[in-house]
Amino acid sequence: MQWDQTARSDAAVIGPPQRVSINLGTGPTALPLSSAELEVPYYLNAHYWWAYIHPTAVQLFERQWLINLILWGNYARLREAVMAEMGDSLPGRTLQVACAYGDLTTRLSARVADGGLMDIVDVLPIQLSNLRKKLPRNAPVRLLAMDSINLNLSDASYDRVLVFFLLHEQPSEYRELTLSELYRVVKPGGKIIVVDYDLPRWWHPLRYIWRPLLAKLEPFALDLWRDEIAKWLPRGSIRVRKESFFGGLYQKVVITR
Ligand SMILES: C[S@@+](CC[C@H](N)C(=O)[O-])C[C@H]1O[C@@H](n2cnc3c(N)ncnc32)[C@H](O)[C@@H]1O
Repeated sequence: MQWDQTARSDAAVIGPPQRVSINLGTGPTALPLSSAELEVPYYLNAHYWWAYIHPTAVQLFERQWLINLILWGNYARLREAVMAEMGDSLPGRTLQVACAYGDLTTRLSARVADGGLMDIVDVLPIQLSNLRKKLPRNAPVRLLAMDSINLNLSDASYDRVLVFFLLHEQPSEYRELTLSELYRVVKPGGKIIVVDYDLPRWWHPLRYIWRPLLAKLEPFALDLWRDEIAKWLPRGSIRVRKESFFGGLYQKVVITR
């Protein structure tokens, strides 16, 4: 499917950031974490502190069954959709922007081909530290502390990029900048794989329960109910393919540069 990219100018506020010192130390991954001082995006402090920033968040949410429950039993299905899209072997360079609870990244790292490398970016040191504990010691993975809107990575340097349930958390302007960065760093012909929420079909019972919950807990998520992800992509001729899951509540969008 080829979608027209339309201009957009939503003025989302990227509010006052807090600073956090990153001291990730040494750990079991093959390559060191980067050291830096990063600003925590305001929407994480304001709306997601309980899920990612609070010291007990990782202890609470890093449970496969709980993540599966939050996804209404669809974790394995969505994870397998990503794995199938990525392929059995990951040669070259793979990028995942934003950590995710569960075993998706661990499983992907096991598919990195000889000589290949997987980079994982996250803006929160606590999330990178948690991921480091989940990965085998010799995994061909680098953990990089960066903001998705400002990736200190070269243009056209990745064969494939994954972003799993990040875009719904971001305000519109932030989401657009993130996609622009992903597009910049993927090689021509490379894929950006997005998995996230979508508008459920009219008959889906969760459509009516989930809407007020999302509005309360994840204030930017309903953007993805109103508009296609293509809305936030850079303008130009970009190939976009979409697949729906679970009555449309979730989507996988594959953007080929
Ligand atoms: C991928 S999202 C949601 C994952 C989903 N709830 C799950 O665990 O399956 C959560 C991650 O995104 C990270 N994140 C949020 N905003 C970010 C940004 N601007 N840059 C990099 N990482 C970000 C958070 O720190 C957190 O680790």
